[in-house]
Amino acid sequence: MSQNWKFFKESVRHFWQVGSLVQSSRYLVDSLLADVDFAESRLIVEFGAGNGCVTRELLRRMRPDARLFSFELSQVFHEEISSIAARDPRLTAVHGCAMLAAQMFAAQSVDCVVSGLPMGNFGKCAKLGVLSTVHAVLKPGGHFSQFQYSLLDYRLMKRHFPAVRLGYTPLNFPPAFVYNCVSA
Ligand SMILES: C[S@@+](CC[C@H](N)C(=O)[O-])C[C@H]1O[C@@H](n2cnc3c(N)ncnc32)[C@H](O)[C@@H]1O
Repeated sequence: MSQNWKFFKESVRHFWQVGSLVQSSRYLVDSLLADVDFAESRLIVEFGAGNGCVTRELLRRMRPDARLFSFELSQVFHEEISSIAARDPRLTAVHGCAMLAAQMFAAQSVDCVVSGLPMGNFGKCAKLGVLSTVHAVLKPGGHFSQFQYSLLDYRLMKRHFPAVRLGYTPLNFPPAFVYNCVSA
């Protein structure tokens, strides 16, 4: 079964949780990873890994001694991420909510958080929970990137990060904005 078809089936079953009908395009993946300092990053965390289109590209660009932890709620997608982890020891697949990261990592120990979470579908409490998790784990000056299909949370991001570079990717379904944020 193709990756896109698998993604579509899972999305139809759990649309509110998955938040899109197709996986991100390679253009969106590029935009999401554009500001990541792969030469220096040794601990990277991914939220909402889906079927692994961002995960695979992270692994392709990462240092050989870097580690990646990819959080995913869906059992179907988690199995997909686990099968990537079976071939690449740098990756740990975590089946659970992204907000568990605050309990798993020491404060300010993570170089970079890359998120595909469907923030637009989250309530205010969940959005603030995700952002406080990011702040708890990220090193000062660490990088956080998040995409969204609208600019709904641009002001929220600007309130939480001293620097936010906005990207736009028309070649995605649907077209997407990317918040590239630097922590204080
Ligand atoms: C829009 S999809 C993005 C998938 C993939 N990263 C991509 O770019 O194609 C959002 C993903 O986040 C997952 N997700 C939603 N809420 C989550 C949470 N609280 N913790 C971890 N994963 C979550 C969904 O199951 C889904 O796989």
